[in-house]
Amino acid sequence: IDSYAVFGHPINHSKSPRIHRLFAEQTRQDLTYTAQDVPSKNFKTSADNFFSHGGNGLNCTVPLKELAWSYADHLSDRARLSKAVNTLARQPDGRILGDNTDGIGLVNDLTLNHAITLSNQRILILGAGGATRGILAPILAQQPSQIVIANRTRSKADTLATEFAQLGNLRSSDFANLAQMQFDLIINATSASLSNQLPPLPANLLSADACCYDLAYANEPTAFVRWGISQHARFSLDGLGMLVEQAAAAFKLWRGIQPATSPVIALLNSERH
Ligand code: ATR
Repeated sequence: IDSYAVFGHPINHSKSPRIHRLFAEQTRQDLTYTAQDVPSKNFKTSADNFFSHGGNGLNCTVPLKELAWSYADHLSDRARLSKAVNTLARQPDGRILGDNTDGIGLVNDLTLNHAITLSNQRILILGAGGATRGILAPILAQQPSQIVIANRTRSKADTLATEFAQLGNLRSSDFANLAQMQFDLIINATSASLSNQLPPLPANLLSADACCYDLAYANEPTAFVRWGISQHARFSLDGLGMLVEQAAAAFKLWRGIQPATSPVIALLNSERH
């Protein structure tokens, strides 16, 4: 039987086994999917062990995505640019392919599940860490009119804007310089949410009908989701949909079948209330 797993540290709250088992049931695929607590120092040994015992594919989450990027024998284009890998797949020749489905997961949740247009829109991304790097190329592929990356440490936003400059119209900023600007979509990719904090955002940042999206998710609305609601965003969403969509893209890479995500998102949403 084909076997898959998610590695991370901590891993006990991971929803990935649940999501992938639901996908497998729905598409009638015979497979196992387990979760393994793997700290960084054990990553290579654990991955070698998994694949040498016939493992077919791995998801890697915090703090292992950069290690998984180095581990892969070859990389998809989007993984190469993002310098992070969330999906490893053993190929027929035994080599390990590294992919990153986070960005396409976000794009699919926005465009397919919520009918939010990205092309020709002004997009603000908050944060310039690994999460931002992971989503930039797939978002730029949708041809927004402009992306502004705003970060507390301005130099990190500058670096990302320069690095991805050939893929689209990218600018960098700090938070103070956002005053007077307006956006159609604001994506929170800072880790501030996890500690229920919010970057210092000026008022009137949202255009009419603008949407807010927090890459983080929690049972309760995050600080950024609440901010979006207070600013009258058309949608103020958290990253649960992205979580399911990145899993679906990984499942597709492994199994060649795209599972239906809506029933899985609806089920996970129903368990939050
Ligand atoms: P991740 O992989 O989640 O992106 P990271 O690479 O450590 O994690 O990046 C965290 C991001 O959240 C950074 O952009 C960080 O800003 P700095 O580069 O200035 O450190 C941002 N961040 C974290 N806490 C924040 C806070 N309280 N307010 C604003 N930005 C914050």
